[in-house]
Amino acid sequence: MSRKILVTAALPYANGPLHIGHLMEQVQTDIWVRYQRLRGNECLWVWADDAHGTPIMLKAAELGISPQELIDQVKADHERDIAGFLLSPDNFHTTHSDENREIAELIYGRLNDAGLIRKRTIKQLFDPKENMFLPDRYVKGDCPNCKSADQYGDNCEVCSATYDATELGNPVSVVSGATPELRDSEQHFFALSDYTDMLREWTTSGTLQPEIANKIREWLDEGLQDWDISRNAPYWGFEIPDAPGKYFYVWLDAPIGYIASHKNLSDRTDGMDYLSSWKADSDVELYHFIGKDIANFHTLFWPAMLEGAGFRKPTGVFCHGFLMVDDAKMSKSRGTSIRAATWLEHLDAEYLRYYLAAKLNSSVVDLNLNLDDFVMRVNADLVGKVVNIASRCAGFVTKRFDSQLSATFPADRQADYDAMVAAGDSILHHYETREYGKAIREIMLLAEQANVYIADAEPWVKIKDDSQSQAVQDICTVALNYFRIIVTYLSPVLPALADKTADFLQSPLSLDALESPLVNHTIGKFKPMMTRVEQDNVDRVIEATKALNDTPATPAPTGPLADDPIKPEISFDDFNKLDLRIALITAAEHVEGADKLLQLTLDIGGETRQVFAGIKSAYAPEDLVGKQTVMVANLAPRKMRFGLSEGMVLAAGPGGKDLFVLHPDDGAMPGMRVK
Ligand code: 2FM
Ligand code: ZN
Repeated sequence: MSRKILVTAALPYANGPLHIGHLMEQVQTDIWVRYQRLRGNECLWVWADDAHGTPIMLKAAELGISPQELIDQVKADHERDIAGFLLSPDNFHTTHSDENREIAELIYGRLNDAGLIRKRTIKQLFDPKENMFLPDRYVKGDCPNCKSADQYGDNCEVCSATYDATELGNPVSVVSGATPELRDSEQHFFALSDYTDMLREWTTSGTLQPEIANKIREWLDEGLQDWDISRNAPYWGFEIPDAPGKYFYVWLDAPIGYIASHKNLSDRTDGMDYLSSWKADSDVELYHFIGKDIANFHTLFWPAMLEGAGFRKPTGVFCHGFLMVDDAKMSKSRGTSIRAATWLEHLDAEYLRYYLAAKLNSSVVDLNLNLDDFVMRVNADLVGKVVNIASRCAGFVTKRFDSQLSATFPADRQADYDAMVAAGDSILHHYETREYGKAIREIMLLAEQANVYIADAEPWVKIKDDSQSQAVQDICTVALNYFRIIVTYLSPVLPALADKTADFLQSPLSLDALESPLVNHTIGKFKPMMTRVEQDNVDRVIEATKALNDTPATPAPTGPLADDPIKPEISFDDFNKLDLRIALITAAEHVEGADKLLQLTLDIGGETRQVFAGIKSAYAPEDLVGKQTVMVANLAPRKMRFGLSEGMVLAAGPGGKDLFVLHPDDGAMPGMRVK
């Protein structure tokens, strides 16, 4: 009976590129998923970008683009890297999607109906200048733990302490520079503490690794707090139904993104009943691959939310440790915080997949990518041991035997062949239990055995003696069959090598196919399958990574650029899309209920436009009438609370009283194009 399995990996934040730290988990997941499929199990990997939250708002603001533009760009980059690293999710969606909104609202609604959402008023930091509550990352101040200055309101980059923004010393609003005030704010809490008993049971029922189960027990013993699942506007996420100005905290809708991706997949493919996999009585197994740093979200909040909303809980949560490079934390300055795209510019994806596999296990200890060891290991194992088997024999078969394998398998080799196939039981078990390092060690033993066989049989000597022709064909047939077994067992780790092998052997690889050796069969042309890793290329990756991290820092801008950096470069075509026109301000009026806006009537030479401009702090209406300004004439009209705004007036300056509407009065005519 084949198993039905649903797998997820952590959803990467849509605020930056994938790097090798992400890849370690993603490769771990991919190997497991490919292994399950190799076994004939129905295994779906549903995945997405995590596209909400303050860091995304901040990053978009830094780049001068909208959060939507940012998450679209990042998703495209992530998808490119996912393909480049041969990851095989069945779906890669986004949490900023209709499906996710629908399911988040459904889950929230059910929790609310069950009385599990409680409103409570708490003190939060408020920016009196901007009139807004400040999300954690919009406040900076002194770390309450180590007193380091200039730390964000959620955690300290120096000592890694996590805390509440209200605990910061000397807090400053990142938005306005004002000192925030503490004000009352009503928030929505999920009654996590109601689930203490259920979680105690679930976390000790074999769902978690022992190290994680122990950590969770400590938290349970300390007592669970209810969980604040709401955030005040401005926030990039989903507004909570019936709570205007309140948004779901990103960690509420992020894991729901797993379900939403599954729904999206089924909607756009075969309309599978995705929901039955998430029902409380589902027989589908559900596993989450995550880093140990987000274990609490997946082993406390998530199962409690699922249970509260009447859904099933995960079958297992598989945590891993962090990736170290050369025994140290990944570092930008040392060039070891390597982006997926940088790796792919200089090195093969399968080199990294193989090395990670060789070192991965089921524990939560950190994994070390030692770059010297990496070069040695990939060359010795993959090039020296595995691919070598095929390259030593392929030429003889093609040239001397018209690409034909022997008609029958040499009887004296059958027992060895069977033993090699049987070794698969243990190898597959290691994949199942995520002991990939052990699987690789056993596969390499088979490769060594195959090489010893070829070395002892010396086909290159026998080929010179015509009477030994059959013996040579038999040796090559045996060796290529060993190669086929070995690559089949490596296929979850090295899918491209597996494809090339299937192509070369002219026979698809599968576990069933190994039951009988390939004989009386025509093979394809041998093409080199993998080249050696060159140290130079590793050096290039490091140099390119250092260079990427160096560029933005220098030179430090002064003057207006210091606070308001220049936006990312645009192309000439982008610029050319703007239609800038001289506009004569024929009327200007106050707008009722708006503190900052003036309503301007603009003549652009034969056409009149109404524009709402945020310049009231600098100009009285009467100062403007009769002046000329420059407007963007082809901006899509925007519906505002006060009416339609049909363009935008260009002004310069930091704001407040220092705002200058340009008025070139040196003979310019309304409607003239500004170039
Ligand atoms: O820690 C992270 O990178 C999160 N974006 C992971 C989210 S996993 C899931 F819950 F969505
Ligand atoms: Zn600190």
